Amino acid sequence: MERKKVILGVSGSISAYKSALITRLLVKNEIDVQVIMTEDACKFITPLTLSTLSKNEVLTSFDRENGLWNNHVHLGINANAILIAPASANTIAKIANGLCDNLLTAVYLSARCPVFVAPAMDHDMWLHPATQRNIKTLEKDGVHIIPPESGELASGLIGEGRLAEPENIVNQLNVFFENEKPLRGKKIMITAGPTYEPIDPVRFIGNHSSGKMGIALADYAAKLGADVQLVLGPTHLRPKNESVKVENVQSAHGMLRASLHYAEKSDWCIMAAAVSDYTPQEVSKIKIKKKESEFTVDMKKTTDILAELGKTKKANQMLIGFALETNDEVEHAKKKLVKKNLDFIVLNSLKDKGAGFGHDTNKITIINKEGNKKPYELKSKWDVAGDILQYAIEREKTQNE
Ligand code: CTP
Repeated sequence: MERKKVILGVSGSISAYKSALITRLLVKNEIDVQVIMTEDACKFITPLTLSTLSKNEVLTSFDRENGLWNNHVHLGINANAILIAPASANTIAKIANGLCDNLLTAVYLSARCPVFVAPAMDHDMWLHPATQRNIKTLEKDGVHIIPPESGELASGLIGEGRLAEPENIVNQLNVFFENEKPLRGKKIMITAGPTYEPIDPVRFIGNHSSGKMGIALADYAAKLGADVQLVLGPTHLRPKNESVKVENVQSAHGMLRASLHYAEKSDWCIMAAAVSDYTPQEVSKIKIKKKESEFTVDMKKTTDILAELGKTKKANQMLIGFALETNDEVEHAKKKLVKKNLDFIVLNSLKDKGAGFGHDTNKITIINKEGNKKPYELKSKWDVAGDILQYAIEREKTQNE
């Protein structure tokens, strides 16, 4: 998912200094901030302060030094939200009445994204029928008003009109973005990593899976608002998103037990783990000593977790598998898709450079149960995770239509 882009409009008010704190909080929340200041705002706080904090050029007028202009239409269209904080009585009056005599008001007028306005002014200015009329007009136009708070004002008066606290302003924006997230309310179980099948207390049979792909999926799904349960095989990697719940498992049997438990309550199951197909018939309780003769380990089959989930799949559940192949890739993947009763399968071929175990990149083809194939370019595992989740979101949307 792309980072959110917010236009922070700063108008002339003594509380303009708080726009520095707002900028810092937005940046801390991984939001790209484009500050637009009115001429009067620049008298209260310098563009240099806000450009340093936002790590972005601050725009103050339509024209640029090199004869170009700041395209207000593009600025408005590309933003996910506009936040005007502080919004002076004058700026509120202008935008409520469609005036656009500066860059900020012109961007407001050409924007399609949600707009948040945090007024700041003297108590009597705030209560004036003209301001209240303008606020009502803005609300009718769909603008989210972040009401001013009560307290001591710059005029020395005490009353309502003080800019809401920066934390509250940014919080309202975050709640809004949170509610907008496409996977909000969705429970997703993801398996990731290798499995280790023990031979004795010190040895195991494992594979080269790092768990990177499954962990990227878990982090990405959480970022899109999902309630994620990760069933993670033995790897030193961990998800970055703190909301991802992790159950660590070691063996295929451990992964089976955890997966069956969580799958029951999950809307989607994404099985990205490289599960061992075989496990030693017997596990020695003590370390096996070296002998002169050859050493053979008898192996028995493990349960195919994904196939097991395919048998008990509920009507609204989406089941997504992976196939890592070296030859006859599409044919093998299609067979797995049918055999395991999947909605779609993510195929990666070891023939593709940069795909598969250990790499930070992957190159996938998605095949759905209707037989349609969608190949993707080589991308970072993070971007691949985004593609897979986007594919699932769109599939579910078209199926519900
Ligand atoms: N899988 C699983 N449990 C297993 C084996 C595989 O859940 N015991 C899942 C994997 O997580 C993956 C898919 O099944 O999503 C395909 O795994 P893969 O190892 O490619 O296929 P297998 O069915 O094991 O077939 P083969 O090893 O012969 O290619």
